[in-house]
Amino acid sequence: MDVQPTPEFEGFRAVAEARRSARSFLLEPIPESVLLACFDVAIRAPSSHNLEIWRFLDVRTPATRAALNHLCLDQPQVRQAANLIVAVARPDLWRLGAKRILARLEADERSGTADADYQAWLPRLKKKYKLMVPLLFADGPLHVLAPAKTALLWAVGQFRPMMRGPFGRSEQQMWAIKTTALACENFMLALTAAGYDSCPLEGFDEPKVKHLLALPDAARVVMVIAAGRRGPQALIPQIRHERAFYVERV
Ligand SMILES: Cc1cc2nc3c(=O)[nH]c(=O)nc-3n(C[C@H](O)[C@H](O)[C@H](O)COP(=O)(O)O)c2cc1C
Repeated sequence: MDVQPTPEFEGFRAVAEARRSARSFLLEPIPESVLLACFDVAIRAPSSHNLEIWRFLDVRTPATRAALNHLCLDQPQVRQAANLIVAVARPDLWRLGAKRILARLEADERSGTADADYQAWLPRLKKKYKLMVPLLFADGPLHVLAPAKTALLWAVGQFRPMMRGPFGRSEQQMWAIKTTALACENFMLALTAAGYDSCPLEGFDEPKVKHLLALPDAARVVMVIAAGRRGPQALIPQIRHERAFYVERV
């Protein structure tokens, strides 16, 4: 930086640099208030259309936890972690997200609590969640309408730039996974800022985890997050390359 970084930037950078994937944990619980505060930070993440289709399952039932440890390939950090949180993308919950936002918009409108800026946005926002979001996401039972919607937007897209989806099961899952992953990062950074550690995992048997947690077919397990206080020899070397390897000016 050639301008003086703000204290906020330095604080944030310190947290981002301190976050590491811990491969061992101590037998020390995370205080409930800390964990809840970290979830509150997680859900501050941006979400596509603000539909908040992320869900976090904090697995506490001993039998479920033991089964989950095994489905996470019995990785040692999984067995040792104070908490195992399963981050789930639920594209099927877009309708609930839209319904709740709409209810909130209408309640704020009725109560007169909306300030002038909010009042100005209200009609557009109500239209978005009543009309635009359903038009975008509803694609019929078994997503039968998805090919027709894709074809229609492809045709219109020949004449002007268009958003092309997400239509169909796998595109909607990918859409939901993107948003959920952002909340996962917020959660892990919050744990670091609170003095705790995490390890994100994709080393698990997803169909079996879904079955164990009775998740619907449409759900995707984005990652399992092991959380706790790091134990001895928790860190493998952190390898990052020079900025130019990743960042390009085009
Ligand atoms: C989506 C995702 C899945 C991961 N899965 C695993 C895993 O199953 N087991 C594991 O030990 N680490 C896992 N990691 C951690 C990475 O190995 C780790 O982030 C990487 O080595 C960089 O190290 P750092 O997080 O300490 O900076 C995963 C990370 C991400 C983002």
